[in-house]
Amino acid sequence: MNRHHIKSFIFTAMFSGVFYLSAPAASQVIQLAAADKEPDYTSQQAWQGGMQSGEGNFMANCVTCHGPQGKGDGVLADSLDVKPRDLTNKSIMASRTDEYLFKVIKHGGVSVGLSDSMPLWGTTFSDVEINNIIEYIRTRICECKYNGKK
Ligand code: HEC
Repeated sequence: MNRHHIKSFIFTAMFSGVFYLSAPAASQVIQLAAADKEPDYTSQQAWQGGMQSGEGNFMANCVTCHGPQGKGDGVLADSLDVKPRDLTNKSIMASRTDEYLFKVIKHGGVSVGLSDSMPLWGTTFSDVEINNIIEYIRTRICECKYNGKK
C-alpha cells in the first residue's frame, strides 16, 4: 500500500463506519416516529382492505374535524360553531345504534337533528364503506357497542 492507498483505505473505513453507525440510528428514528400515536393514513396498514378500508377512509376524511384518534380535536374543530363529536365518548357512542350512525354518516348531521357542520358522506362512500367506517369507530375509536338503551 502506498500513501494514497492508505489514505483512501482510511477514508473508506471511516465512511462505512459512519454509515454502519448511522443506519441503526436512522431506523431507531423511524421506529420512534412509528410509535408516535399519530396514525398515518398513507401507510399500507391503514389501507388494508383497499379503498374500502374503514380505517383508511376515516383517517383520510374524518380526522380534519374529529381528530386522528376521533376525540373531536381535528385541525378544523376550532373554526366550527358546533364542535365535532368526541367519538371516543363511550357513553354517548354506546347509546347510538349502528343504524343511527349509518344515517348520520350517510345523510349528514341534519338528518338526525345534529348540526350541518357534520357533512353527508353518501355521495362519497358506498354503503359497504360506511359500514366499514362504523366498524372501525366501534372497534378502534369508542371501543364500544350499542348498549341497548336509547
Ligand atoms: C367538517 C367537519 C366534519 C367532518 C369532516 C366530519 N364530521 Fe362528523 N361531526 C362533525 C360535527 C360538528 C359533529 C357534531 C354535530 C352536532 O353535535 O350537532 C359531527 C358528528 C358526527 C357523528 C355523530 C355523533 C353523535 O353524537 O351521534 C358521527 C358518527 C360522525 N360525526 C362521524 C363522522 C365520520 C365517520 C366522518 C368521516 C367520514 C366525519 N364525521 C366527518 C363534523 C365533521
